[in-house]
Amino acid sequence: MKALVLSGGRATRLRPITHTSAKQLVPVANKPILFYALEAIRDAGITDIGIIVGHTAEEIKAAVGDGERFGVKVTYIPQEAPLGLAHAVKIAEPFIKDDRFVMFLGDNLIRDGISEVVSRFQEESPNAHIMLARVRNPQDFGVAELNGTKVLRLVEKPKEPKSDLALVGVYLFDSTVFEAVNAIKPSARGELEITDAIQYLIEKQYTVHWHLVSGWWKDTGKLEDMLEANRLVLETIERRIDGEVDESSQIDGRVVVEKGTQVVNSVIRGPAIVGEGCKIENSYIGPFTSIYNRVKITSSEVEHSIILEDSCITDIGARIEDSLIGKNVMVAKDNGRPRAYRFMLGDNSDVSVI
Ligand code: G1P
Repeated sequence: MKALVLSGGRATRLRPITHTSAKQLVPVANKPILFYALEAIRDAGITDIGIIVGHTAEEIKAAVGDGERFGVKVTYIPQEAPLGLAHAVKIAEPFIKDDRFVMFLGDNLIRDGISEVVSRFQEESPNAHIMLARVRNPQDFGVAELNGTKVLRLVEKPKEPKSDLALVGVYLFDSTVFEAVNAIKPSARGELEITDAIQYLIEKQYTVHWHLVSGWWKDTGKLEDMLEANRLVLETIERRIDGEVDESSQIDGRVVVEKGTQVVNSVIRGPAIVGEGCKIENSYIGPFTSIYNRVKITSSEVEHSIILEDSCITDIGARIEDSLIGKNVMVAKDNGRPRAYRFMLGDNSDVSVI
């Protein structure tokens, strides 16, 4: 079997972060989301992986390389424009050939991995296997309508969903999917939808199996989902303090402090992770916070947030919560006159002040 990982796309819902970076490389608990997918695929025994890349190709290639560090072999497949998930399958045919494959959306995180579904797919040998999860907002996903064990219909982002069963971004196919992706037409949003391709398989009486995922699953396309994924992964970390913590600091519970990091006169309450080469001084870091490498936090409080590398937070009077702060961002109290907020924000930034 092979795997196809999708790592292109525009990621408009995570701007401004995605103006400059690939959403699949945003770290969750200090590890890029995409790496969880690659590890899940490898753990399922699949080592031949094609990665679909778009305008962020260079960044993805720099992070993943040839796959050796994950124990896999990566082939990059450029997609000239984000024309849809089924379009990605179409252009991957020369890589997949007539193998069976798992397609994994690079922004999806799935707690229990894919080993079980991969062996089930190999045993049962249907033409396709989809994974479903109950969600509160089915209109934001592909939605399945079932009749007992049969999948009746799949609709992409329906205004009036017929169920609360969302399509998880992990799909297993045999080569009949190529017939489907070549037959369907672009949707209203101008994309070739994988949901429509699977609907085609259903209509043509091909076998489409499904199961409900038991552990959690997250599509990290939006800020709140990214923070929730971060929370869910941090719940699983083990305490490990490799950095230096001075005597006036307090580290409570499951906290990781990586090497080269200094914690001075601060409180860190887990679950939380602080990357390498950071300095946390006179500050409070609350639960569900991931701070990436070389971040400096001084006289400030941060909770339930993700902070990317090389950023600096200084003297902020109020607690920072529910935030995703990009790379090399400065947030500081300004004591100058006149007293005012002074911003330099990228396009589509989102700021709340008190
Ligand atoms: C895509 C699929 C959708 C699926 C979702 C899972 O949506 O089109 O059917 O439920 O991934 O993450 P997108 O995130 O591209 O809007």
